[in-house]
Amino acid sequence: MIELVKINKFYNAGENKLHVLKDVCLDIDNGDFVAIMGESGSGKSTLINILGFLDKNFSGTYKFNGVEIGKFSDNKLSQLRNEAVGFIFQQFQLIQNYSIAENVELPLLYQGKSYKYAREQAIKALDMVGIANQADKRPKQLSGGQQQRAAIARAIVHNPKFIIADEPTGALDSQTSREIIQLFNELNSKLKITIIMVTHDKNITYGCNKKYFMLDGVLQERENYEV
Ligand SMILES: Nc1ncnc2c1ncn2[C@@H]1O[C@H](COP(=O)(O)OP(=O)(O)OP(=O)(O)O)[C@@H](O)[C@H]1O
Ligand SMILES: [Mg+2]
Repeated sequence: MIELVKINKFYNAGENKLHVLKDVCLDIDNGDFVAIMGESGSGKSTLINILGFLDKNFSGTYKFNGVEIGKFSDNKLSQLRNEAVGFIFQQFQLIQNYSIAENVELPLLYQGKSYKYAREQAIKALDMVGIANQADKRPKQLSGGQQQRAAIARAIVHNPKFIIADEPTGALDSQTSREIIQLFNELNSKLKITIIMVTHDKNITYGCNKKYFMLDGVLQERENYEV
């Protein structure tokens, strides 16, 4: 599904150019559960911004289902992003003034779907993550783990091709982290949802079938690593 060949990425840092991704190659297939580990500042978020069609300012080849996306217009790329990707963040990023159901409906409303259809799908997605009974509450009324479940429902509600989770357990205690990872493992094994997860915590990567380590912009496939 995803094929990266020799991706290079530079940031301008004053006079100097910062070489953040160095000849990164990566293949992701349907149904993969991928872990990307590595130290702070090594380039993990930069890489997943490219993977998630948020950043097209790179060199190298990115093929998505066989199509090279490098020359896509901004519009075409945002359309692909809205349809193909679900995002999950460390701090959940739920809209506080909206109910949980309204938050989960958003990706469908962005796609122009009706309110009725969006609500039906939102309730289904909330049911899949085990919090359909929280649909009418506001994010603040939920625990951290429940808020992350709502964010996961929002990420899967539109049937994306893959989901990207950047430190999804970074704001959770260890017990809640285990529950969230258990949910990821279920979504991956039962519903065959493709997941790309960035994490510092190698203890939560047990369900991943591909494990990568980013070291100063160089991506290596590895079973284990020592920081
Ligand atoms: N917009 C930007 N402009 C300039 N430099 C940037 C920008 N974004 C990131 N960087 C730099 O690029 C490098 C990689 O950053 P990145 O955010 O990808 O790291 P990371 O592996 O996700 O780190 P963390 O684990 O702390 O989230 C860092 O040196 C960072 O300072
Ligand atoms: Mg990061």
